[in-house]
Amino acid sequence: MGPETEKNKSKKLLSLLKPAKERGIEIKEKRAIIIGVFSCKGGVGKTTTLANVALSASQIFKGDVLAIDANLSAPNLGLHFGELDPKVTIHDALAGEIPVEKTIMDYHGLDLILGSIAFGEEVHLVDLKGLLEPLRAKYRLILIDSAPGIGAEVISAMKICDEILIVTNPEIPTVASTLKTFRSAEKYKVPILGVVVNKVRNEPFELTIKDVKKALGWPIVAVVPEDIKVREATAAGIPVVSYKPKSPAAAEFRKLSEFVTKHVIKS
Ligand SMILES: Nc1ncnc2c1ncn2[C@@H]1O[C@H](COP(=O)(O)OP(=O)(O)O)[C@@H](O)[C@H]1O
Ligand SMILES: [Mg+2]
Repeated sequence: MGPETEKNKSKKLLSLLKPAKERGIEIKEKRAIIIGVFSCKGGVGKTTTLANVALSASQIFKGDVLAIDANLSAPNLGLHFGELDPKVTIHDALAGEIPVEKTIMDYHGLDLILGSIAFGEEVHLVDLKGLLEPLRAKYRLILIDSAPGIGAEVISAMKICDEILIVTNPEIPTVASTLKTFRSAEKYKVPILGVVVNKVRNEPFELTIKDVKKALGWPIVAVVPEDIKVREATAAGIPVVSYKPKSPAAAEFRKLSEFVTKHVIKS
């Protein structure tokens, strides 16, 4: 082997050591999709849905999932994970006391940013977008739990979402108030990924899924039965997908997380 070939060889080697970008290889940067869970009414199962979808999705995405409690006035996502008094919270980050990355907690591979349950002060309009945008680079999926209603707190959470899931129950008053959430999403041009009908009992006076679909005019992506195991799981502070994985509600929440993760992969 002559000196010239030796030179070529080392040149080739050096070029291989160059960053992929300089070698013309396109590496897609990680950029999480932010999906929020919304509903005008409280108690419909937003937080339950979010906790279960987040935990299942983190298993599918091998930990690349972050769930955030953006219900700033009455946060309770932590309760679904048995965390009654988180040491670091989104409130600390919003107050500028701790960098947001330092408020991340781990629950069996799922990252969580929880709220302070003891937080008693009035919640002022906050820059959620500025706070959460840098986190996109660390995850594939960020899930956001929100407060009920359509107040400023809810709208500021909705505006940082790329897409939202709307949770409802098969009852006329709930479906009627859910329409307000649709209006807000339309107003702020936030795409709706679909509707989750939760707490379905199949009672004769309930709205049928067909009725709900007709009333809301949007695809229904999950139908979750009313299931005593969900209440038990909430009381135990373990999402039902982990507490009773074989329960009917757990199966539906898992299906929903598969739908969401497939959607993220396609996006
Ligand atoms: N499919 C279900 N079956 C039975 N109970 C449920 C179901 N989904 C939610 N729940 C219960 O309803 C209560 C309110 O749920 P939550 O998720 O906190 O509602 P929201 O966040 O909309 O206010 C919780 O106690 C939870 O265990
Ligand atoms: Mg809630």
